[in-house]
Amino acid sequence: MPNDRIGWVVDVLSPGASEQILEIGCGHGMAVAMVCDRLTDGRIVAVDRSATMIAAAKRRNAHHVAAGRAEFHTAELASADLSEACFDKAFALRVGVFARDDPTRELMVLARHLSPAGRLYLFHDEPSRSADDVARRLEAGVRGNAWTVEAVLTKRLDGCDVACVIALPPKPNAAADGPKR
Ligand SMILES: C[S@@+](CC[C@H](N)C(=O)[O-])C[C@H]1O[C@@H](n2cnc3c(N)ncnc32)[C@H](O)[C@@H]1O
Repeated sequence: MPNDRIGWVVDVLSPGASEQILEIGCGHGMAVAMVCDRLTDGRIVAVDRSATMIAAAKRRNAHHVAAGRAEFHTAELASADLSEACFDKAFALRVGVFARDDPTRELMVLARHLSPAGRLYLFHDEPSRSADDVARRLEAGVRGNAWTVEAVLTKRLDGCDVACVIALPPKPNAAADGPKR
C-alpha cells in the first residue's frame, strides 16, 4: 500500500508518545511501524485474523517488538483476547467489517477496551464508491451501535478517496442497553 495513505492515517491518529494504541487488521504492519516511530513508552497492539499477515508484520517490526513497543496477535477482533488492555485509541484501515457488514460484535469488544476518553478511527476506501458514500457506511455502522461520531474526514490520496470516521463508544449504561437499530 502506498505510504501517503498510511502517512495520512498516522497523522490523523496522531499517537501520543505514551499512548496505548490498538490496530485492527494490521496486514503487513506498515502502519504499526509508523506509529512506533512516534512512541517512547507507549505501546501498540495489532491484531489480524491472518497468521500470514501477522508473521509478515512481526518481521517488519521485529525491532519494535524487541523494544516492547509493538505486540501482535493472530485473532479475529470479535473473539480476540485482549486481556485487561485499555487503549487510548483504536484504528482500522480497510477492514471490511466496518464498512460492509454489521460490526456489532467488533464494536462491543472495542467499547470494552477503550479508555473512557478513547476514540475509534475507522479509515476505508473502495474504488467504486465516493469517500462520502464510504463515510456514510462507516457512520451507519457505529451510530447503529450507539457510538457517537465526533468527526468525518475525507482525503484524496494515491488516486483513492479515503474516508475516516472518528467515533466515541457509548457510555457504559448505554452499552448495556445493546445496539440501537
Ligand atoms: C485489506 S487488508 C488491509 C491491511 C492494512 N490495514 C492495510 O491497509 O494495509 C484487511 C486486513 O484486515 C484483516 N481483517 C479483516 N477482518 C478482520 C477482523 N474481523 N479481525 C481481524 N483482522 C481482520 C485481514 O486479514 C487483512 O489482513
